[in-house]
Amino acid sequence: MHTISDYQGYFVEYLSKKTITKEPVTLYEPISYILSLGGKRLRPTLVLMTTEIFGGSYKKALDAALAIEIFHNFSLIHDDIMDAAPLRRGKETVHEKWDVNTGILSGDAMLISAYQLFENYEGVVFQEMAKLFSKTAIEVCEGQQYDIDFETRDDVTIPEYIKMIEYKTAVLVGASMKMGAIVAEASESCRSSVYDFGRLLGLAFQLQDDYLDAFGDPKTFGKQVGGDIIENKKTFLYLKALEFASADEQKQLRGLFSLNPDDPSEKISTVKYLFETTGAKEATRTEIETYTQKAFSTLDDLTISADKKSLLRLFGEELMNRSV
Ligand code: IPE
Ligand code: IPE
Ligand code: MG
Ligand code: MG
Ligand code: MG
Repeated sequence: MHTISDYQGYFVEYLSKKTITKEPVTLYEPISYILSLGGKRLRPTLVLMTTEIFGGSYKKALDAALAIEIFHNFSLIHDDIMDAAPLRRGKETVHEKWDVNTGILSGDAMLISAYQLFENYEGVVFQEMAKLFSKTAIEVCEGQQYDIDFETRDDVTIPEYIKMIEYKTAVLVGASMKMGAIVAEASESCRSSVYDFGRLLGLAFQLQDDYLDAFGDPKTFGKQVGGDIIENKKTFLYLKALEFASADEQKQLRGLFSLNPDDPSEKISTVKYLFETTGAKEATRTEIETYTQKAFSTLDDLTISADKKSLLRLFGEELMNRSV
């Protein structure tokens, strides 16, 4: 076993060898651009780490890790179009730097390249990977569509929100870990426990993403702070604020979330104030912690050594203490 930052380093090195710009440059340049902007590389790191947790060599998992990271970056290009986001990882989004059509097509090419990488595996490993990947990718689309549908609905419930973030985000974290277990040819029960660990951590991760979208530090966050408020996203923060608010505050919040003002700064500050004073901010922190602990409790079902379990716990803890 290696350290978390070792796995991240192995992946980044592999990625830099594999990203090439060819003709037409207008298709491939945005791809190298988004992939070279960095990011936490959490999903590929999980693929490599999980492979070694189940006794495989991370080297065999590099293409699977790359497929997952390319897919993730494809989903970000399209997500930024859908969310009208100007900033990603501290830089201009692809559709801002180029245009929407470029974002659509470069994204499509990335989705296909991700699939292509599975051709480097054989037999049953290939089959299992392709099956998991297709199932996950279609769920991500479903989650993304719920997310968009919720923008214009005013009756979204917390269970609906949880299902939406499970699909748009958590299943890919689960799949990254299961991918590692497939490379290592781990047992079915290990595959499913580790998937569940990743899925629950993924739920905590998206709750944290929503939290940081409102309360992150604009200097370090890398995305537009308040973007979810501008887009009327029905996040946990919003749904809890509505639940805890007085009748007047509820009316105010619903009103603000039916507007799309040209200058959103006042809307953002009022909504953040309500997120805080109603106790929604605090409730979101608690929920992040609850899902992280739920993830950790799945480790009881895994027959791996105590130090491997500690490594997974450390990964979860570091993720929850992030500011990006
Ligand atoms: C952003 O994912 C999209 C979500 C699912 C919240 P990350 O926060 O992992 O983005 P990068 O890759 O580190 O930039
Ligand atoms: C994105 O959720 C999930 C996917 C990209 C599939 P968000 O829209 O919250 O992600 P960010 O905040 O833009 O990274
Ligand atoms: Mg977004
Ligand atoms: Mg989105
Ligand atoms: Mg977000």
